[in-house]
Amino acid sequence: MFEEIWTEKYRPKKLEEMAGQNEIVNRLESFVKKRSLPHCLFAGPAGTGKTTAALCIARELFGENFKSNFLELNASDERGIDTIRTKVKDFARTRAIGDSFKIIYLDEADALTRDAQQALRRTMENFADTCRFILAANYSSKIILPIQSRCAVFRFSRLTKKEATEYLKKIQKAEKLKIDEKSLGLIFDISEGDMRKAINILQTAAISSKKITTKIILQTAGKAEPRQISDMLNLALKGKFTEARKILVDLLFEKGLSGEDIIKQIHKQIFSLQIPDKKKMELITKTGEYEFRLTEGSNELIQLEALLAQLGLIKS
Ligand SMILES: Nc1ncnc2c1ncn2[C@@H]1O[C@H](COP(=O)(O)OP(=O)(O)OP(=O)(O)O)[C@@H](O)[C@H]1O
Ligand SMILES: [Mg+2]
Repeated sequence: MFEEIWTEKYRPKKLEEMAGQNEIVNRLESFVKKRSLPHCLFAGPAGTGKTTAALCIARELFGENFKSNFLELNASDERGIDTIRTKVKDFARTRAIGDSFKIIYLDEADALTRDAQQALRRTMENFADTCRFILAANYSSKIILPIQSRCAVFRFSRLTKKEATEYLKKIQKAEKLKIDEKSLGLIFDISEGDMRKAINILQTAAISSKKITTKIILQTAGKAEPRQISDMLNLALKGKFTEARKILVDLLFEKGLSGEDIIKQIHKQIFSLQIPDKKKMELITKTGEYEFRLTEGSNELIQLEALLAQLGLIKS
């Protein structure tokens, strides 16, 4: 049976349904109430509600048929600023139905060069009578100041554990899933406050069973038990190379994790190891070195083995 993607199925339709981002939601709701909107810049990490908030505003202002008053563009898909300008022009030519302005959502605005952003700024000014721009970017610092100063800036943050798990629980209820607090916490930890990631993990885990356990989550998310990683590190630090290597081989070839995933987890675990700070610093440096080699495409087993061997040589 075809199953809808949960991130779409459970995408909030109203601002008030959004998880977290409370201040942003309040400010945006007051714009909707007054039916006036400035140009906006939505800055923040992936999966935190930027596109969602823009869609909610449009729906609340224009109703279910908001699509005729809402244009979504992606700065890195459209071939350059000229295509964007043409599309904006075509869209802005007709007046908004039943309302005084239309909304243009420009995703990944920080992908535009400075020159392209200057051109964008002029376009924003030319069409200011008929259109409001909402620009989205991961980093506001990559947006030129003349644009920033023309926009109301909203900084989206990663969701907190409480906000994310509360939202996941709503999905759990609707989908009649069984999941305990520990598993919800684990999903949050893996997602790092990215709600899209969290919902995707939940949906993938739910394919194997309606009763979701930490084991299923780790499997579907391609993560190792944190315990296994810390065991491996502690063994390596004690110079028990052969035993540490056994765990590594299990993770790579039995559990099928990627070298990059393993090294990311190693990096995370270092901070909670019971070793002096000086050792941690050396560990971090080494991990960074080997992470670089892995991204350059070296053999995963050889590189990770070498890292474990290095750990055994670190003096306390
Ligand atoms: N604050 C939130 N509350 C509830 N669900 C959210 C929230 N943020 C994200 N989501 C979920 O994650 C999905 C992706 O969110 P959205 O498209 O808004 O992310 P984004 O911030 O635009 O990310 P990107 O930078 O990758 O474009 C949504 O469909 C929704 O299911
Ligand atoms: Mg988006």
